[in-house]
Amino acid sequence: IEKQALRYQGKAKQVFQTNDPDILWVHYMDQATALNGKVKEMITGKGELNSAISHLLFDYLTQNGIENHYLTAVSKTDELVTTLDILPIEVVTRNYASGHFVSKFDVTPMQQLTPTVQEFYYKSDALDDPFINDSQILALGYANAVELAQLRQKSQDVNQLLRARFEKIGIHLVDFKLEFGRTRAGKVILADELSPDNMRLVDMRTGASLDKDVFRQHSGDVTIGYQDVLTRLQQED
Ligand code: C5P
Repeated sequence: IEKQALRYQGKAKQVFQTNDPDILWVHYMDQATALNGKVKEMITGKGELNSAISHLLFDYLTQNGIENHYLTAVSKTDELVTTLDILPIEVVTRNYASGHFVSKFDVTPMQQLTPTVQEFYYKSDALDDPFINDSQILALGYANAVELAQLRQKSQDVNQLLRARFEKIGIHLVDFKLEFGRTRAGKVILADELSPDNMRLVDMRTGASLDKDVFRQHSGDVTIGYQDVLTRLQQED
């Protein structure tokens, strides 16, 4: 497989075309952003850590029947994925109150949420990823009713699997964001990445954040928590 032209430049990843139209080449960068890209910083080693964590979790989900875009790693920071038509929807799942959920409602941080909360956001940097509901998604044609039901079900399945995996290593899966895409055959499968950039992870014993909140709150070196997450996941393998 040969890496070709840059097709998409994200905030933490670059996506390149390859000589196979069904395969894309993803590079995890060392860049961190907050406030929708308004705060930017280079963090040495973050790309490698996110890539390793993401691969481990994608493999785990694959073993448990969750179809996803991840194919194989090509280096410590690069991977091959299936080309998808990405749905412009971010699915956020919340097991405990944190982040924007706490600033929006009268709720204590880390209050357990039962049932688990699911939210959709419209993926648009220009619009700051606004909240979007089911009928808005359907009316705007961002997904059809069948796909919408699949986004809900698949996110719930991923949550159960990831939650159990993290609980075993003493970590609360507080919340996370998923993205999905359509295969050439029109099937909706999991895409994007599964890393502490996209999920909140809290140490059960100490209450410490092991995720990007450390960067958002300028409270230290994020790679320490990311490395801790990776080490614990590897020990469980
Ligand atoms: O900011 P908020 O509380 O809505 O974030 C919920 C979860 O979704 C967090 O784990 C955050 O890292 C993730 N998220 C993300 N990308 C976004 C928005 C939220 O990965 N654009």
